[in-house]
Amino acid sequence: MYQVVVAGAESPNVGPVGGVPSKQKKLGREGRHLMGAGVLGLLLVIAAVAAWCYYTASLRKADQLKTELLDLRRDGFTIRNQTGAVVFRMAFRSGALDLDSCTNTRVMLNCERSNVGPLNFFIQVVRPRDTVMCYRVRWEELVAGQPVEHAMSYNGSHWYGGAESASQHWPILLAGQQEPEPFVTSDINSNRQQFGGILERYWLSSNAVAIKINDSVPFHLGWDDIAQTMRFQARYQDTLYKPLPGQEPLAELSYRVCVGSDVTSIHKYMVRRYFNKPNKVPCEDVFRHPIWSTWALHKTSVDQEKVLTYAANIQKYNFNWSHLELDDRYTSKYGEFEFDPVKFPNATAMFQKLKASGFRVSLWTHPFVNYDSANFGVGVKRGFFVREPTGKLPALVSWWNGIGGILDFTNPETRDWYASQLRALKSKYDVASFKFDAGETSYLPWKFSSLVPLHDPSTFTRRYTEMAIPFNDRAELRVGYQSQNISCFFRLIDRDSVWGYELGLKSLIPTVLTISILGYQFILPDMIGGSVHPNHTYSNGQLPDRELYIRWLELSAFMPAMQFSIPPWEYDDKVVQIAQKFTALHETLVAPRVLELAGEVVDTGDPIIRPLWWIATHDATAYKIDSQFLIGNDLMVAPVLEPGKQERDIYLPAGRWQSYKGEYFDKGPMYLTDYPVDLDEIAYFVWTQ
Ligand SMILES: *[C@@H]1O[C@H](CO)[C@@H](O)[C@H](O)[C@H]1NC(C)=O
Ligand SMILES: *[C@@H]1O[C@H](CO)[C@@H](O)[C@H](O)[C@H]1NC(C)=O
Ligand SMILES: *[C@@H]1O[C@H](CO)[C@@H](O)[C@H](O)[C@H]1NC(C)=O
Ligand SMILES: *[C@@H]1O[C@H](CO)[C@@H](O)[C@H](O)[C@H]1NC(C)=O
Ligand SMILES: *[C@@H]1O[C@H](CO)[C@@H](O)[C@H](O)[C@H]1NC(C)=O
Ligand SMILES: *[C@@H]1O[C@H](CO)[C@@H](O)[C@H](O)[C@H]1NC(C)=O
Ligand SMILES: *[C@@H]1O[C@H](CO)[C@@H](O)[C@H](O)[C@H]1NC(C)=O
Repeated sequence: MYQVVVAGAESPNVGPVGGVPSKQKKLGREGRHLMGAGVLGLLLVIAAVAAWCYYTASLRKADQLKTELLDLRRDGFTIRNQTGAVVFRMAFRSGALDLDSCTNTRVMLNCERSNVGPLNFFIQVVRPRDTVMCYRVRWEELVAGQPVEHAMSYNGSHWYGGAESASQHWPILLAGQQEPEPFVTSDINSNRQQFGGILERYWLSSNAVAIKINDSVPFHLGWDDIAQTMRFQARYQDTLYKPLPGQEPLAELSYRVCVGSDVTSIHKYMVRRYFNKPNKVPCEDVFRHPIWSTWALHKTSVDQEKVLTYAANIQKYNFNWSHLELDDRYTSKYGEFEFDPVKFPNATAMFQKLKASGFRVSLWTHPFVNYDSANFGVGVKRGFFVREPTGKLPALVSWWNGIGGILDFTNPETRDWYASQLRALKSKYDVASFKFDAGETSYLPWKFSSLVPLHDPSTFTRRYTEMAIPFNDRAELRVGYQSQNISCFFRLIDRDSVWGYELGLKSLIPTVLTISILGYQFILPDMIGGSVHPNHTYSNGQLPDRELYIRWLELSAFMPAMQFSIPPWEYDDKVVQIAQKFTALHETLVAPRVLELAGEVVDTGDPIIRPLWWIATHDATAYKIDSQFLIGNDLMVAPVLEPGKQERDIYLPAGRWQSYKGEYFDKGPMYLTDYPVDLDEIAYFVWTQ
């Protein structure tokens, strides 16, 4: 229940009235003039006086509905920062408040009616610090079937956060008009218009405002690039969200808006206050040396010989490795946990050979059990799968490798069974860890039931990520929802082997920055050169374009971890040399910094990979830079991301910077235009005293 707050000290008849003199004078003059004109005039005077009283009363009301730096109107509210600039605007789209039903105690605004009917509405003001002001907003409908929608203006500032997406931009770029859709995790490699596998209900603006939507909200996100609004909607109709058992489908939209003095400090405040944090740093080896995956190179035709040859070549070309990743597919059927005896005639021997050469191996895994696998019957009999809505029958789902059941990770027995299968593989072959693939809600049936009912389907994603905890030293996940405290590597969804913003090379920095802002810091940028999917590869032959591959490799060397699949020796000696140069640079220059920052993540949750504005909080240019980033506060990286270019423009925020070539720059902020960067180079700058 909500606190019912009686109107404060001001009685309805007193209280400040301001800004009315002109109207008052006019009425007064009219009144004097009409006074001598008899009864009609008297009536007019009475009407005028009544109008004046009403007018002043509503002004008083409007004044009452200011609370700290927030102004409430019937159709929305605005928030100012401490110097009085309007930094946040929200419009009510599903109804307008009846301001006469509102009361105000300065820390709590409370209204009980809208033009659509009764409701509970409140805004509570909290000032947790001198420089931070927070507003808890809640609009609760009392009529079932009534959605709630508030529209946040995004004009006038830059926004960050929300979700991984297929076309990723930094800051967020919203195009067209989108009706509110469930804000739940999806595989954006297959469904490119959806929200991605890593998402949080959190946005941050360059005006030093942050908004966090409450977990309990059946939350839908839409937008409108004409009105320049993001539409935040709560509803239970035509959606994946369900009221909890025994509760009525009454939509409630609640969120916190916090305003600070600059974008970095408000973000730090929000992270410390509202985000989970990892409790340990994953395996240091993975930060130092590349992972080598079989996927982009061999796809599902991988076999024992190919794995051994791949490992032998890694050694032959003098590369280091953290581990070798045996990807899809090594089992006979999807849903089994044993090696396919045809493709892997002696898996034990393979693991022994790899171990003797110093290779640890991780295995690919996923939440599906296909109908043709031996475990399908086991799952049906023991109730391991997500079911159709009545809960009687397992639901069949279609995924990129066929049709089957999807394991219900809300069921402790399912979790135990799955974990025991993974442990068995681990002990039988001395497997190092697992690559946990999928986990998005887009692989659940549109209507389903799970053992523990899910109000928010993305909770399924969270339950799946928890499966990785026992294997977390080297485990990698590609999904996350409130999963920042799963101390694993989080991988970007499979990239296409293209240059652009749609899952291509240019999307890497925006995506890494976005998920960093969402609190995921142990980031794997996925495979160098992309996954080489048919029709999504820029190339003249089988391999990604050579120049694209080299630029991708250079950028990856400055990410928290590197992951190869297409090996450099598939090109030529020059590419091998460049790859050796950059894996060595990663090890000596990048990994030590990243590891130091990774240690801090456990305490602070702050990004390892940071946007330029992190150190240039009032620099309007820094808000828009999407092709440069910082590692910590003092190493700034500016890769070449354009085909055919051996130079680029580089923005240096204020400070004294030393380039990788040794030049000093201290007249900043400044642009270095057409700064030369050869094909085997990446530009980076160190902040110096
Ligand atoms: C943003 O939109 C609001 C409401 O439409 C408008 O009043 C304001 O002037 C706009 N601000 C900018 C900077 O465009
Ligand atoms: C947010 O949700 C929690 C429960 O998930 C609830 O206790 C809290 O009051 C909610 N906050 C608001 C502002 O509604
Ligand atoms: C308030 O916002 C304006 C406009 O974004 C900005 O220039 C000013 O520095 C901000 N003041 C504070 C105290 O954050
Ligand atoms: C597999 O290889 C091991 C040696 O690594 C050997 O002892 C075993 O007999 C082989 N198994 C089969 C079925 O060939
Ligand atoms: C992560 O945080 C959530 C609270 O949001 C808690 O319930 C969960 O147990 C934590 N998990 C780990 C692994 O720390
Ligand atoms: C690739 O494109 C060709 C021609 O447009 C089409 O026939 C083929 O089905 C596509 N392949 C895939 C995997 O989408
Ligand atoms: C491999 O690791 C060694 C030892 O740390 C290092 O000296 C060498 O440069 C690395 N080689 C490559 C190609 O990264």
